[in-house]
This record gives sequence, C-alpha cells and structure tokens, in this order.
Amino acid sequence: MNSNTTSLSVENLTKQFDHFTAVDHVSFSMRRGEIFGLLGPNGAGKTTTIRILLGLLVPTSGEVSVLGYDVARQAEEIRARVGYVSQKFALYPDLTAAENFDFYAGVYGLPRHQVNARRAELFQVVGLAEQEKQRAANLAGGSRQRLAFACALPHQPQFLFLDEPTAGDDPTSRRGLWDLVFALAEKGTSILVTTHYMDEAENCHRLAFIYQGRIIAEGTPSAMTEQTTFGAQVIEIDCAPLETALPTLRESQLFDEVALYGSTIHAMGAGAVGRISQARALLQANGVTVTRVETIAPSLEDVFIARLRQVSSG
Ligand SMILES: Nc1ncnc2c1ncn2[C@@H]1O[C@H](COP(=O)(O)OP(=O)(O)OP(=O)(O)O)[C@@H](O)[C@H]1O
Ligand SMILES: [Mg+2]
Repeated sequence: MNSNTTSLSVENLTKQFDHFTAVDHVSFSMRRGEIFGLLGPNGAGKTTTIRILLGLLVPTSGEVSVLGYDVARQAEEIRARVGYVSQKFALYPDLTAAENFDFYAGVYGLPRHQVNARRAELFQVVGLAEQEKQRAANLAGGSRQRLAFACALPHQPQFLFLDEPTAGDDPTSRRGLWDLVFALAEKGTSILVTTHYMDEAENCHRLAFIYQGRIIAEGTPSAMTEQTTFGAQVIEIDCAPLETALPTLRESQLFDEVALYGSTIHAMGAGAVGRISQARALLQANGVTVTRVETIAPSLEDVFIARLRQVSSG
C-alpha cells in the first residue's frame, strides 16, 4: 500500500491482561478516506484495539501507526489529529448543546477565537443549529448522538474513531449518523467504526470480523458475502411451528448450520440447495407446515456464523 494513502497500519498487535489475551496478533490497514468496520460480539477486543490505536493503552507487542505516526513514540502527534467518540462517551447533561461542544473544543485544543465559527458550521452540518441552547439532558437520543459526533470534530481531525456510535438508537437516527459518516469520509477523513449491527456493517468500505481477539475474516462486504468466499449456500424457510422445525432441521444433519432470523429459518452448508426437497419432506413428516423455501444470497450475519463455526471446529 502506498504510504501517502495509508492512514492506519496495525501489524501483529497483541494485548494481554495478565494471562488473558484480549487482542491476538491482529493486523489490518486502512486507506485515507476509508470507512473500516470492526465487527464482533461482546468482549471480542474492539474497544481494547481502539484504545491502543489512540495511545491510551500500551500493547504487549506489535506495531501500530496512525496517520504515519508511530503510536509508541508519537502519541501526542496522533491525538492532535484524531477524534474519538468512546463507547461510554457522555455529554454533560446540565450543559447546553453549545456548552458541551465548547468544552470539547477546549479539550481538543481549538483556539478560543475559532470556537464560535466552528460550532456554527458543525451544528449546521449535524442538524443541531436550532437546539444549541437546549440542555443535553433534554435532547432526543438521535440529537444526542449527533452532538457527541460534533464534539469529536472541532479540530477537523483526519481520523475518527467511533466505538459503537449507534448502540441503542432507532433506525432513523442510525441512518442519520451514517449519512454524516459518509460525508466525512468523502472529504478524506478515515473512519474506524465498531458495531454490533450487521446491517450497518454493509455501510463500511471494508470490515473485519473479530472474535476472541482474533480477526477471523476480512474484506469488502460484497466480497465477504460472495459464494466463492463463503463456500456455502443459504436457504430461507418459512414454516410453522418453529419450535418443532428448528430441532428437526438441526438433528437431521442435512445442514452445517440452522439459525433463526426473526420468524424465518436460515439453513446453510455446502450443497444446501440440493437438500431442499429432503428438508421439506422431513419437516412435513414431523407435522410442520412449510409455506416458502427460497435460495438466498448469504447475509453478512450468515458469513459471520459460518466463519465462527469453521474457526471453532478447528
Ligand atoms: N483493563 C482490563 N483488564 C482485564 N481485562 C480487560 C481489560 N479491558 C478489557 N478486558 C477484557 O478484554 C476483552 C476484550 O474487551 P473489549 O472491551 O475490548 O471488548 P469489545 O469487543 O469492545 O466488547 P463490547 O462489544 O462489549 O464493547 C474482554 O474479555 C474484557 O473483559
Ligand atoms: Mg467495546
């Protein structure tokens, strides 16, 4: 990768807490203006990785550079050029939206005479211009998230770290925040985002699945879900009752994985499509009414489940 366009480089990063390995030989890199997603379940090591990249936590081993600066030796250079919305980011509830922003502008070292202009500009962008005098406690959830986002941007960072920025938000607010992320990336800001939401992962240019501190898959969302990468087929089954259908399909061993998605079942495995009629007959023999069976493109969630199974079975 050309060093002019590389915004992040992580090589063989490992972090141990006593004898527990939270981050295990993780490597990935990002280009300028790229939106990179780190996806993984609770405790996978996402926040630990971000804290190391910011120089807030010392790694056990590995090489990390952000915007061309080495984290071990040049953490101050990095902090001056990055924004961070931490997972536990809290606004001051008693301060107004404007006062919260001004506080963080000070934290990021924006000269005082630039604060008013920068606040006006950013509040316009994030849609808070009308609410700047409202106390943070009285803002709706989506507005609070957009204020948190603005509070990471006073100094026009070239790199933004977002640790689960949309957790708990409704779909409309999540969409609104992603629009802001796209706009920033388009102007050249690199963005590393963690999320639990698989549908949000589709918004990333590239992503990595992290599990027990290790990257178990990496690529663009489309490459990850392509059959060739995935090596398995997925069929979607609408049927009832589910409490009979699920164990019947699992015990049949016709598929590698049988998972519930809301009210439909996804059955996966190499050659899954060729077993549809067998599965249908088996379900009917067990008193299950099958209303629809369809071959579908695997979702990122299917890929994740399949990769997990491959990793756990060695
Ligand atoms: N300071 C610490 N001392 C000991 N163990 C820690 C410490 N910080 C994190 N861990 C452990 O490291 C693992 C990874 O934690 P981390 O917070 O990075 O996960 P995460 O992927 O961000 O999870 P979540 O989705 O819940 O935010 C967890 O098992 C956690 O308990
Ligand atoms: Mg976390």
